[in-house]
Amino acid sequence: MRLSHLSPSGVRRLVGFGFLGITVVAAYWSFFTDGFPILWGPSASASEIAEGRELFEHEWTPNDPLAHGDGLGPVFNARSCAACHFQGGLGGGGATEHNVLSYEILSRLDDPSTHGVVHNFSTDPQTKETLGGLRRLHPIIKSRTVVTNTGQCAMSKTIPDFDPVRTETIQTTALFGVGWIDLISDRAILRHARNRGIRQAAREMQLEFDDVPVGRVRHVRGGVGKFGWKAQFATLSEFVAAACANELGLGTPTVAQAKPLSMPQHSASAPDLDRKQFRSLVAFVKTLPKPVEAEADQATAHGKKLFATTGCAVCHVPDMGGVKIVYSDFLLYTLEDPPPPGSSGDRYDSEPPPELLLPTRSENEPKPAEWKTPPLWGVADSAPYLHDGSAPTLHSAIMKHQGDAKTVTEKFKALSASDQAALLSFLGTLKAPPEASQLSNPAVTRLASR
Ligand code: HEC
Ligand code: HEC
Repeated sequence: MRLSHLSPSGVRRLVGFGFLGITVVAAYWSFFTDGFPILWGPSASASEIAEGRELFEHEWTPNDPLAHGDGLGPVFNARSCAACHFQGGLGGGGATEHNVLSYEILSRLDDPSTHGVVHNFSTDPQTKETLGGLRRLHPIIKSRTVVTNTGQCAMSKTIPDFDPVRTETIQTTALFGVGWIDLISDRAILRHARNRGIRQAAREMQLEFDDVPVGRVRHVRGGVGKFGWKAQFATLSEFVAAACANELGLGTPTVAQAKPLSMPQHSASAPDLDRKQFRSLVAFVKTLPKPVEAEADQATAHGKKLFATTGCAVCHVPDMGGVKIVYSDFLLYTLEDPPPPGSSGDRYDSEPPPELLLPTRSENEPKPAEWKTPPLWGVADSAPYLHDGSAPTLHSAIMKHQGDAKTVTEKFKALSASDQAALLSFLGTLKAPPEASQLSNPAVTRLASR
């Protein structure tokens, strides 16, 4: 049938149906899909990957011939990316001696969200950073008595000493499969969180309370945070630029090298990596192979079922946004119990007392005790566990899940010994990729010194 054979009202109806169709598809698209499916995995040219690998393994020196600026430093934590990322092959996690000391300052009126890293090393002894030095820059705010006048009566209140410096040791995460995580759409994470919220509200109306509260999406510049223990970056390339600047003191075209704590006026050199080098480094990291789930036997298949029925999979969601076996929802949770009422609750909430009139953290910023659900793929090859590496075994990592995960941990504890062992043997099937490359020079993993 040709369009010209239709009566005017027929044409109007056809156009009307057309619009209706488009509206239905658009509504379905925005409510029920994660956006475009991932058709191709991360890819890059072989020459870019090879150049990136060289930069990842290179042991940088001050005024390095490969750098376009001043090379390593002025402050740094190691001499190469591979020095920390090596467990289970090139790009893996690292041991606790490579942990990084990060800090947050809660008392700067001019810059309420000061945070950074206390670097282990410096190219010049003058600029060496220490925790003591950081504390000297941000001393304890001494206890004081404030008097508030409430019309008739004056009330005095003593505010105890307040230490504005918060520190955490942070463990190196494995990078296998990060290029796939980069492809997970924001919509997938947002939709998952929204749907869990809706299901939870529906259950609550029937007075059936869900055991695990819905985690928080972290919104950062550029979208939903997916990378880092605090979900602090939305894209892999931003994280790589920050790692260059903070871990090795290498500036890139987008992020300047870290400045020594005691010298905020230290002038940054020209970017150490040019655009092409930086693109190659990102290409290498994003094409690192993804972890695998080893074939299940009877015990591990049973353990996988228990992983779901015990409630682990509520947060460690097996497939997200088209990426299979990633085991994370990329949301923030608190796995610490709240402090008993009346105690200071330092780490749990950690805001300055209101009487100090200091800026408080914005709602979107994670609290000190909030951490992103880490992807569990490759977990069998990335001990020790948790953000600070404080859990030497998978069993101890599970036992440290309190707070938002408390009821799930109770269910785990109530399992028979053989069921617990089955669940752990399932986690043992989540392995680093067998095709991960070995380090060209295993000696790079020894601790750097000046
Ligand atoms: C001194 C040890 C150290 C060095 C050197 C280091 N990293 Fe890391 N890396 C870490 C730690 C610790 C984390 C976790 C940081 C966090 O989550 O806040 C991390 C996390 C990452 C992540 C985020 C992974 C994710 O899924 O969240 C990327 C990407 C990364 N590093 C890339 C690099 C690159 C590229 C280099 C070299 C330029 C490098 N790292 C050098 C310790 C190191
Ligand atoms: C409420 C959400 C939630 C539930 C439920 C939950 N987890 Fe976790 N899991 C997390 C978070 C958040 C972390 C990171 C905490 C940290 O680093 O301090 C984590 C960390 C882990 C780690 C360490 C991973 C690493 O790379 O260091 C393992 C292993 C783990 N969980 C297994 C489990 C198992 C098994 C269960 C079920 C018995 C479970 N989790 C239930 C949120 C959850």
